Amino acid sequence: MKRLTKAAGLQGTLQVPGDKSISHRAVMFGSLAKGTTHISNFLSGADCLATIGCFQAMGVEIVQDGNNVTVYGNGLHGLKKPEHTLDVGNSGTTTRLISGILSGQDFDVVLSGDESLNQRPMNRIMKPLQMMGAEIESVNEDGCAPLAIHGRKLKAVHYKSPVASAQVKSCALLAGLYADGKTSVTEPVLSRNHTELMLRSFGVEVESEGTTATITPPEEMTATDIVVPGDISSATFFIVAGLITPNSYITLKNVGINPTRDGVLRVCRQMNADVTLTNVKDEGGEPTADIVVKTSKLKGCVIEGEVIPTLIDELPVIALLAAFAEGETVIRDAQELRVKESDRIQLTVDNLTKMGADATGTEDGMIIHGGRPLHGASIHCKYDHRIAMTFSIAGINAEGETIIEDSECVDVSYPTFYEELHTLTKR
Ligand code: S3P
Repeated sequence: MKRLTKAAGLQGTLQVPGDKSISHRAVMFGSLAKGTTHISNFLSGADCLATIGCFQAMGVEIVQDGNNVTVYGNGLHGLKKPEHTLDVGNSGTTTRLISGILSGQDFDVVLSGDESLNQRPMNRIMKPLQMMGAEIESVNEDGCAPLAIHGRKLKAVHYKSPVASAQVKSCALLAGLYADGKTSVTEPVLSRNHTELMLRSFGVEVESEGTTATITPPEEMTATDIVVPGDISSATFFIVAGLITPNSYITLKNVGINPTRDGVLRVCRQMNADVTLTNVKDEGGEPTADIVVKTSKLKGCVIEGEVIPTLIDELPVIALLAAFAEGETVIRDAQELRVKESDRIQLTVDNLTKMGADATGTEDGMIIHGGRPLHGASIHCKYDHRIAMTFSIAGINAEGETIIEDSECVDVSYPTFYEELHTLTKR
């Protein structure tokens, strides 16, 4: 549990932790490659540690030294049958990506996670995998994990996904590593493309055209070193904090700004926010920059359509930003928020309302009328890390005390969140 009160400002420089999506993929692809993969700036959060645990359980030697991880890959066909059920914890990314890989192995496996994970929809990956000839079942026949997978040789397909989801796309592409020809996935709107970029670094032929990605199954994957950029999803909590807390001036170093992830920066521009990028670089195909944020007078805006997948994880804290903007902000086309670690539309609107904001949930988004002052409240985050961090930032901008129950869930993606917040906060 954490207690927060009003801050007088946020000032200083911050290095946000490594990107969660990229850290997962680096461990997975390193495990399947021939040779040694060194990963630096790895996110040592619970989700990525679950991925490490799964591959260790399948016979891959992985050594972690803080944020440096060394993966001694077993090659594309070198995974071993685990002795127990694979524990995927709270991690949707682990579950969905690993299911693609496991479908093509020559052994059977069961995977299961925590209470929240085992309620999230897995039909979305079972469908393309079954089209490829995979044997994957929901053990309780509810379309959720635990999942039982009987690995086998797979057929190549062209899958038209009804959702813009990098997890679904990646699952099918990774199953495509073990298919008898080229596997393609077309999605309605382009989702994050870290899988495509990183597979290429590991020597795999992947083509991208519009919203279609195509993989050619390789003989082997070749190990490579990965430098993980800072996570823009984690940075966004401090971008919003810097914008809404009076007297703030902060610099966030080395943040990933891949165009399939940078929607929050576009929204900031639309809202008149003082956010500037310096030191723009490229790290293995992933662009990075330092982000400088100053307290700003914001205006509401409409957030919808193609930008949504590029800021999907940021929407709860963008809703908080909207509560501090003048006028109305409308968020549409974000129904995916309802099937994240929690129903993020419901929890965001409930907690904003509890703190005095004018927020209404819709089927696929939220409507927020900004400008009402917030007051402290007791926040229930249903163990959802992004809700806990969103309302911690709200708490330092509210009158009175805000209590975050389950605050330890921030460990999922940002274990040092409260230390960083404390360091930057001026009293
Ligand atoms: C992720 C994709 C997104 C995102 C999640 C990480 C990934 O999920 O919300 O936090 O690493 O591929 P969806 O693919 O379900 O949109």
